[in-house]
Amino acid sequence: MAALVPVEPFDLAIFGATGDLALGKLLPSLFHRWCDRQIPESSRIIAVARDELDDDAFRQLVRQRYLDGHERNLDEDSNWQAFAERLTYVPLNAADRDGSWDKLQDVFGTSENLRLFYLALPPSLYAPVSENLAHHALNVPGSRIVLEKPIGSNFHTAREINERVGAVFGEDAIFRIDHYLGKESVQNLLILRFGNFLFEPMWNATGIDHVQITVAESVGAGKRASYYDTAGALRDMVQNHLLQLMCLVAMEPPSDLGADTVRTEKLKILQALRPIGRAEITDKVIRAQYSSGAIKGVAVPGYQEELGSKSGTETFVSVKAEIDNWRWAGVPFYLRTGKRMSRRYSEIVIQFKPVPHDVVQADSGKIQPNRLIIRLQPDEAVRLMLMTKDPGPGGVRLRYVPLNLSYADTFEKDYPDAYERLLMAVIRGNLGLFMRRDEVEAAWRWTDRILQSWEDAQSPLQTYPAGTDGPTASALMLARDNREWF
Ligand code: NDP
Ligand code: BG6
Repeated sequence: MAALVPVEPFDLAIFGATGDLALGKLLPSLFHRWCDRQIPESSRIIAVARDELDDDAFRQLVRQRYLDGHERNLDEDSNWQAFAERLTYVPLNAADRDGSWDKLQDVFGTSENLRLFYLALPPSLYAPVSENLAHHALNVPGSRIVLEKPIGSNFHTAREINERVGAVFGEDAIFRIDHYLGKESVQNLLILRFGNFLFEPMWNATGIDHVQITVAESVGAGKRASYYDTAGALRDMVQNHLLQLMCLVAMEPPSDLGADTVRTEKLKILQALRPIGRAEITDKVIRAQYSSGAIKGVAVPGYQEELGSKSGTETFVSVKAEIDNWRWAGVPFYLRTGKRMSRRYSEIVIQFKPVPHDVVQADSGKIQPNRLIIRLQPDEAVRLMLMTKDPGPGGVRLRYVPLNLSYADTFEKDYPDAYERLLMAVIRGNLGLFMRRDEVEAAWRWTDRILQSWEDAQSPLQTYPAGTDGPTASALMLARDNREWF
């Protein structure tokens, strides 16, 4: 593998450093980049949360959580010792303007490192914490702020966050994370589309019948149940991850891969999404919650049992989305995501149109349309399904077989996790991997309309047993269009 280029020295304050995201993703990612010598030794990580911990207690917390998720002996690992020394803990209620901000000011001191604030906090704190940073003059010129998805819980809250954070940090200093944009296989989508001549001429309503995007999870809401129950699958996954994937599949070819060139093309797709009103909501959007079932033979309780209370929150959603522009007229994008489904996988399937005339008239088998399957996780791959003749004597028998590019077999190397890539991109100032304000707001406008239509039409909440691929209604949605989920 080519040598990694170190980033510039930085001081990164993680607000919410004792939370699930910081301990489960951000700190392990930083540790891995440290081990690969990508982080200069003069960099510092300043952890902020309300718990009264000292540096050593926080380092122990980070160590323990790392060991829970990774097989690695840290006892005699000099990398770990050196990394731990970079961690400082500051107890602070960041929502409180008069809190002990002076401690944080002292830690930053006169350091000239690039200054970064990562808000791994509930979104309701994004605006007040930004304002507190300004009030305490911590937002020195050149500093950057990182906001996690979801930005707000609807268009209005998102706009308010954007306004208030935008009053403190310029748009070029705001990095809104959608971690799907940091995944290797998602990055490859642009190269697959625009680095090959093969696909683009038929990447439109003439060549494509429909597109399916599935992000299926086998886990439930887990430790994040209290957040998840207020959000549901539409806000948690569709508003951000699935719409971003759809944009990358549907957008026009950008003139270059500059951050704003690509983000402007994505925005046009979000703006062209046909709103789903009350009259069509039950035909075009299915909402469902899992009941008890089994995953890989292990019994799993239903969502409300796991939550310990009654709930009308959807854990599954499937949507027939349509893009009102020339390229995609009449081509539905079926989006589907859910928790406690049969297995964890994310896939984009491009179903091409059937051949116009069957010249083969085979003795056995029928010509099937080509299909491009882009497997995002867990086992990244690109498969192009082709018709072939089954080898052998006698009559013509057809076989539908994949031309298969498996990442594991082809590239034989490890690549960084999405958060590792995104954190390094923040430090490098590469905004292309992050959502721009107008993208987030356009995505919320379309999502809000669905939420409103659900309410107006009192859309029923379907159920599906844990360990299945969702409710029957979702299969019926496609069956009405003479299609099926692949
Ligand atoms: P958690 O509830 O696990 O953690 C929240 C953190 O914020 C804790 O460290 C908490 O510590 C701290 N905190 C809360 N209030 C304050 C305050 N007033 N001042 C200082 N610290 C405070 O949440 P997550 O880590 O799961 O999520 C954080 C953000 O990341 C959310 O916006 C979430 O939607 C987003 N996200 C999370 C993902 C995940 O995998 N966990 C994935 C994608 C996005 P304490 O209460 O002790 O102060
Ligand atoms: C997060 C959602 O953004 O993405 C979680 O809040 C979900 O509910 C997670 O589990 C899925 O991410 P990944 O990378 O595991 O597919």
